[in-house]
Amino acid sequence: ELVNPREVLQAARENGYAVGAFNIHNLETLWAVVEAAIEAKAPVILQATPGTVKFAGADFLVAMARAAARRAGIPIALHLDHSQDLDMIALCIEAGFSSVMFDGSKLPWDENIRLTRQVVTMARNRGVAVEAELGRIGGREEELQVRAKDVYYTDPAEAVTFVEATGIDSLAIAIGTAHGVYQGEPRLDFERLASIAAKVKLPLVLHGASGVPDEAITRCIQLGISKINIATDLKLAMAAALRETLLSNPEENDPRRYLNPARNRVKEVALAKIRLFGAAGRA
Ligand code: 13P
Ligand code: ZN
Ligand code: NA
Repeated sequence: ELVNPREVLQAARENGYAVGAFNIHNLETLWAVVEAAIEAKAPVILQATPGTVKFAGADFLVAMARAAARRAGIPIALHLDHSQDLDMIALCIEAGFSSVMFDGSKLPWDENIRLTRQVVTMARNRGVAVEAELGRIGGREEELQVRAKDVYYTDPAEAVTFVEATGIDSLAIAIGTAHGVYQGEPRLDFERLASIAAKVKLPLVLHGASGVPDEAITRCIQLGISKINIATDLKLAMAAALRETLLSNPEENDPRRYLNPARNRVKEVALAKIRLFGAAGRA
C-alpha cells in the first residue's frame, strides 16, 4: 500500500538526508522512478501535477502506484503536486493519493491560511499528508507560472506563524530555486534557509531542484531540506532518449522497443538524484 510520507520525511529531517519526489506522467516514468528507488533501497515520493491527473486519470495513477508499491518492498507515496483547486484535491484524496500539496502561494496571506486549513481538515480524516507553500517560487510548471517580478522569498517568522495556523505536514519554501530550466546558475539564499530551519521543525521542501548544482543541493540538505522535487531533469532525459531512439531507428514502431531506452534513461537520472540526496539505504 501507499504510505503517508509524514514519517518518511520526518525521519529524513532528523537524520540529515532528503527524500526524492519525482514528477511522473505515465507507466514508463512511474516505473523508472520506482526501479531506481528499489535499486537504491530508498523511500520515494511519486508526484503528479493537476495536469498529469487530467492526462492520466487519478484512478490509473493510484492503481499503478499501488501495483508498484506491492512489488517494490520500499515505502512509496503518491503525492498531488501544486494544486490550487480544492475539488482536484478532494478527487485525488478520494482516489487514494497519500499526500497532497495545496499551493496558495498566489493568494493573500489570510486566504492562503484559510484554504490550507480547509485542505488539512479534508486530508486528516483520510490519513493523507499535506504540503503547502509560503513565499512564491519562480519559473513555470505547466499552467502554474510565476514571473521574476512576482517571486518572493519565504520569511522565517511568517513561516512559523503559517505552520502553526495551518497544521500542515511539510512546508515548501522559496529561497531562489525556480521551476524548469535555469538561465545561468541559480543563486540560493542559504542564510534564509538556515533561519527558517532553525525555527520550523517540519520537513522543508525544495521545489525547482532540476538544474541546481549538486553542491548546492547537498548544502540545502545539510541546512534542513528533506523533500526535493525533480520534474524537468526527468522530462529532459525522457525526451532526449526518445528523440535519439526514434531518429536513429526510423523504422521502429514497437512502443516497447522505443520506450525502453527512454525509461532506462529516466531511471539513471532518478537513481543519481536519490544517491545525491543521501536517501540510498534508508528504506
Ligand atoms: P523542476 O522542474 O525544476 O525540477 O521543479 C520540480 C518541482 O518543483 C515540482 O513541484
Ligand atoms: Zn514545484
Ligand atoms: Na528548476
